[in-house]
Amino acid sequence: MERTQVIIPPQALERQRDFTARIAAHNAQAGKTPLALVETFGCQQNVADSQRIMGMLRDMGCAFTEDPRRADLIVINTCAIRENAEKRVYGTLGQLTHTKAENPEQIICLCGCMAQQPSVADKVRQSYRHVDLVFGPQALWKFPELLYGVYTQRRRIFSIDDEPGTIAEGLPVVRESSIKAWVSIMYGCNNFCSYCIVPYVRGRERSREAKDILAEVRELVEAGYKDITLLGQNVNSYGKDLPEPMDFADLLAAIDEIPGDYYIRFMTSHPKDATEKLFDTMARCKHVARQLHLPVQSGNSRVLRAMNRGYTREKYLEKLRCARSVMPDLVLTSDIIIGFPGETEAEAMDTVSLVEEVRYDALFTFIYSPRPGTPAAKLPDPATREEKQVWFDKLLEAQNRISAEIHQSYVGKTLRVLVDGESGDARWPLQSRTEGGRLVHLTGDKSAIGSFVQAKILDSNTWALFGEIEP
Ligand code: 5AD
Ligand code: SF4
Repeated sequence: MERTQVIIPPQALERQRDFTARIAAHNAQAGKTPLALVETFGCQQNVADSQRIMGMLRDMGCAFTEDPRRADLIVINTCAIRENAEKRVYGTLGQLTHTKAENPEQIICLCGCMAQQPSVADKVRQSYRHVDLVFGPQALWKFPELLYGVYTQRRRIFSIDDEPGTIAEGLPVVRESSIKAWVSIMYGCNNFCSYCIVPYVRGRERSREAKDILAEVRELVEAGYKDITLLGQNVNSYGKDLPEPMDFADLLAAIDEIPGDYYIRFMTSHPKDATEKLFDTMARCKHVARQLHLPVQSGNSRVLRAMNRGYTREKYLEKLRCARSVMPDLVLTSDIIIGFPGETEAEAMDTVSLVEEVRYDALFTFIYSPRPGTPAAKLPDPATREEKQVWFDKLLEAQNRISAEIHQSYVGKTLRVLVDGESGDARWPLQSRTEGGRLVHLTGDKSAIGSFVQAKILDSNTWALFGEIEP
């Protein structure tokens, strides 16, 4: 893909701002502040996308509500990674038939990864006739024009062309926190893991220019943000498509030069592209949190090959040894799929043994869900759901024990944490995170929110640490 085809030209973005202004003028003239609701399913990339959609809606003169009955406009940002996520979206869409029946002027939009799939669009076209606008992640930057079309042409609009993908800089944003922020550094995925729908719905890998990322991070740090997460489906292939080559480690080192008191995190790293240079850079950089989310998916090399992951169990473990040799205190998390088609019990137990060997701080665990259109969905899948559930429970049991043991070892220690909000827990009302991203509930006053404090750890369980702020 030519770079010129990837970057949306400024005039095209200006045109979108023009549609935004027209909608805003219409609202102002009618003396109306429409209420919008943006509901997000799925990963952090979707959260970041929703913040852009909210930015556009704000510029159109909207205010926000959580109540679907009061909303003039509803945007459902969807996830397609597993069938369950899709079912929840259909459930939500079903409920919206009632809100639309009460308020026929209500506009309902469906976007995100599910919307990009032609089969979903067909189903919505036929069976969810109350949905006015459907657009995929590739069309996000055109939201003002699409919405303007819905308003003025009074017809349903579907924008789900299968494009390799673009980069739109400078879209407006509503950030929901003043402490934590997400910064997309690249979009799309070229890996085609055999179970995964993402490359089909989010297009090819494309990296933002480093200067644009640096400017965004600098602006966030200057505005007082303390915890910034760089996002991409595979951040380790950052820069491969840039005219001036720069790899992810170089980008981290460049960001680290920005002065201030803040942490930089990133997700997700693909093990096949994680390098010694990356680990050395993480270890050396002052602002880069010693936290690594390195999804292994399986602990069995045959299954890894069938998943098209590009590494073996041994290679993965070797990478971790390398990372831990330069960062002994590294906080490590992973994603795991149990029950990939054809996986045997012995192979699933290899995953449990890998988890025992690595001793992750936490895991995100999933039972395999066939995604139509992916190669794995065509494979024979003889194991039953019940068998897979038994293997899954064994994995959870192992990880819960390990997480509890690791957490217990923190009791009595004092850690530097960033207080980022309220926990909702009466006994430990504040919520905070360590450098490694571990959750710590604290006693103390709300005035600490937004600052780094020293926390003495008094108790722990499988999911969190509990402590008090040291004076
Ligand atoms: N079934 C189950 N889990 C999946 N993931 C991706 N695709 C599937 C699927 N078809 C998991 C992987 C990935 C995480 C975001 O979701 O573990 O890392
Ligand atoms: Fe999906 Fe694999 Fe790409 Fe992750 S790296 S988004 S699992 S295809």
